[in-house]
Amino acid sequence: MSHIIVNANRSAGVINKNIYGHFSEHLGRCIYGGLANEDGSLRTDVVAALKELHVPVLRWPGGCFADTYHWQDGIGPKDQRKTIVNTNWGGVTEDNSFGTHEFMALCRELGCEPYISGNVGSGTVQEFSDWVEYCNMPGRSPMADLRRKNGQEAPFNVRYWGIGNETWGGGGNMRPEFYADVCRQYSSFIRSYDAACKPCKIACGASEDDYHWTRAVVESAWRTIDAISLHYYTIPGDNWGVKGSATDFDQNTFYHTLHRTLWMDELIENHSRIIRRFAKGKDIGLVVDEWGTWYDVEPGTNPGFLYQQNTMRDALVAAVNLNIFNNHCDTVVMANIAQMVNVLQAMVLTDGDKLLLTPTYHVFRMYRDHQGAAQLETYAVTTLVGTAEEPVPDLHVSASRSADGTLLVTAANLSADEARPVDVLLSGLKAAGVKAEVLTGAPAAHNTFATPDTVAPVPLDARLTDTGFAATLPPCSVAAFRAAVN
Ligand code: AHR
Repeated sequence: MSHIIVNANRSAGVINKNIYGHFSEHLGRCIYGGLANEDGSLRTDVVAALKELHVPVLRWPGGCFADTYHWQDGIGPKDQRKTIVNTNWGGVTEDNSFGTHEFMALCRELGCEPYISGNVGSGTVQEFSDWVEYCNMPGRSPMADLRRKNGQEAPFNVRYWGIGNETWGGGGNMRPEFYADVCRQYSSFIRSYDAACKPCKIACGASEDDYHWTRAVVESAWRTIDAISLHYYTIPGDNWGVKGSATDFDQNTFYHTLHRTLWMDELIENHSRIIRRFAKGKDIGLVVDEWGTWYDVEPGTNPGFLYQQNTMRDALVAAVNLNIFNNHCDTVVMANIAQMVNVLQAMVLTDGDKLLLTPTYHVFRMYRDHQGAAQLETYAVTTLVGTAEEPVPDLHVSASRSADGTLLVTAANLSADEARPVDVLLSGLKAAGVKAEVLTGAPAAHNTFATPDTVAPVPLDARLTDTGFAATLPPCSVAAFRAAVN
């Protein structure tokens, strides 16, 4: 029997709902054919499926695309919008029929907040500043009047603004010291037009363990920013060369993938420590605005479209990352999985007018009630599975208590082939009832358009004990326990 201890007497704080955020880029079929139709109108079936996830925040328009995007190309009558080339992703034609207004309509439908990643790489300070004015100015002004001319009277009230994307790479190939100055300059012109919508300025942060970047940016720009980002992808292959297949992998690769994912914990710890040390006492949050698995594209698909399948392995990757973010809710204020539809670790895949829900989608649905709940300290008594070189713990867990008194414990069994009977011991809480569900399957199990329900959550037999509750987690599984506690 394995043990999970939930300690109600210690909490890292409230889990910011934005940890359950998403990312949508003009890349492959994420926007056109995914979230929207070819004419930029919303795809209602996809939006309806995503509503179940209670998406809190959505990042757009990139990614790399953001640093070539000129927002004024995407407003006004559609037949007059400029057609451009998406030079980052497949060299395809972008007719800008999905622009600012369409993105805001999507956010409205999803009930989420918009997070705009502004163009620093090839744009100007004026262009960025105009976009903020266009979105947020309630009264009369050149940009607010232009918004009205385009049919939107009330401001969009966009709070989250990203100051460039990967400016250390495709977003300008800048040195951190140079970017810090650029960030200070841009940030000065991201104005607040309404006290109720104070912009949250998110500096472009590091890739993986580039701690020098975080230090240099925070040390110089801390006064002008509210948060800084981090990008870390789980890539099982040799990083940017061969990344490995999404569905065809052996057990060693399965464990290697989980081992790579677990690194997120150390990255957050180290970046957060640096932020705290160099932010001169200012509360600067960490925004993990790109994370998820990245494999070779599905055979026969456009290499520039980053379309990949999604298996139980991805479900475990999602569960581990979300547990890590929950447990670091004192510093992680937002996270955005890459990406929402048809790109990388997606929630939904589409094929013409068909759609399927991925195992990752189900994990986000099972975890959604962690949003805004108080994190509780957990301790899992684990044994190591995996390989001798890359061991991973068999159990990975997080817990929270929501305002209505419901305890949510989410636990993943990372063993590929062994079930785990678990005893969940509650310290400082008494459970009056428990219900559980589980997502499980072989590591490579996935949904296809012909068999869309191969991987789907099912009820899990859980029973109350004197000290909490108990259940058996099947191999390669993600479980969610909901208990009424007092
Ligand atoms: O998510 C795909 C790409 O990965 C993004 O455009 C970029 O920011 C990152 O390198």
